[in-house]
Amino acid sequence: MRDTQGRPVTGSNIKFPVAIPDLSGKEEEYVVDAIRGTWISSIGSYLRRFEPEFARLCGSPAAIAVSNGTVALHLAMAGLDVGPGDEVIVPSLTFIATANAVRYQGAEPTFVDVDPETWCLDPDQLERSITPRTRGVIPVHLYGHPADMDPILDVAGAHGIWVVEDAAEAHFARYKGKTVGSLGALATYSFYGNKPFTSGEGGAVTVNNTSLESKLRMLAGQGLDPARRYYFPIVGYNFRMTNIAAALLCAQMERKDEIIARRRQVFEDYRAALADVEGLSFQPVAPWAEPTPWLFSILVDEKRFGSSRDALAAALLDYGIDTRPFFIPVHRLPPYAAGSAGRAVDLPHSDALATSGLNLPTYSALTSNNVDEISGAIRAVARRR
Ligand SMILES: Cc1ncc(COP(=O)(O)O)c(C=O)c1O
Repeated sequence: MRDTQGRPVTGSNIKFPVAIPDLSGKEEEYVVDAIRGTWISSIGSYLRRFEPEFARLCGSPAAIAVSNGTVALHLAMAGLDVGPGDEVIVPSLTFIATANAVRYQGAEPTFVDVDPETWCLDPDQLERSITPRTRGVIPVHLYGHPADMDPILDVAGAHGIWVVEDAAEAHFARYKGKTVGSLGALATYSFYGNKPFTSGEGGAVTVNNTSLESKLRMLAGQGLDPARRYYFPIVGYNFRMTNIAAALLCAQMERKDEIIARRRQVFEDYRAALADVEGLSFQPVAPWAEPTPWLFSILVDEKRFGSSRDALAAALLDYGIDTRPFFIPVHRLPPYAAGSAGRAVDLPHSDALATSGLNLPTYSALTSNNVDEISGAIRAVARRR
């Protein structure tokens, strides 16, 4: 059994979980303030402060706070009028929510492979996946590394389809000096407990096409006409964030650079500690990328490492070290096994990464000594062969 952060809870002797939220700033003070002020629902000063601040930090004109990253994607699809008969291109190596958001609207995801150099949507595969039914593409900035956006934007522009960035795992990462999320028409974010910035559950949509802002706000707020009480001209949703969640995020935004710097240090420590372990490799960093480190990831080459990815994960658990296997490619999951709108797909890079990839514990409080201890356990497993 696992808790809401995905941490094992049965007889838990876990010393190093995969994620621990960093709530060491003014999080508690702001949440208590929201509670004392009784503004705990979806109106309040922290929401009013968080939305423009997050938009500014993302380099976007506006941000809409919502209840999680999945509804952020759903809201984006609804706002762009995705509907039955439409196709939307998504990478298969992602969390299932990216594809589900397309399905919620009655449309079909078209799965494309990832580039082994970025682990994100391969721009070379994009053009050949476009059909007359294609409405848009959702590149995912996987594990905090930006997708190669320029060729994606070029192909999308040439074919008149939109781009929505799924930045759930990559808040404030930079692509060629520009903040991810500011590049497509819309971008979506998650603030789930294991993400670099968190409100427990939470999400946001940033809007670069400002003509969409009022429509998205209306859809996220039950379809209510802002100028007329209890008048609902459209069918909307309740996708709103609470002021308590926004209080947490206001505190997190104050320490944005500090939180990213801590996670960068953890990534550097892992790279240094594991560099010479035969059979392990890491997520490449493209020359144009400034990732926001999410989860440190290793690829396990079973023959050279001497143990499979799953055997390594099981052995690490005995040392009290929790890990996560990579996402199962979405086209391998039952709801999407028919392929892309019924067309079979073959995505070898997604499959290969999914079977060899493992996420290691990554959080602010992880010290260099902790990383050494985890790396030592990995080395001990390598020596067992
Ligand atoms: C790439 C990606 N998209 C979407 C989501 C959904 O976000 P949430 O869990 O906040 O609904 C996640 C969440 O983990 C994700 O990793």
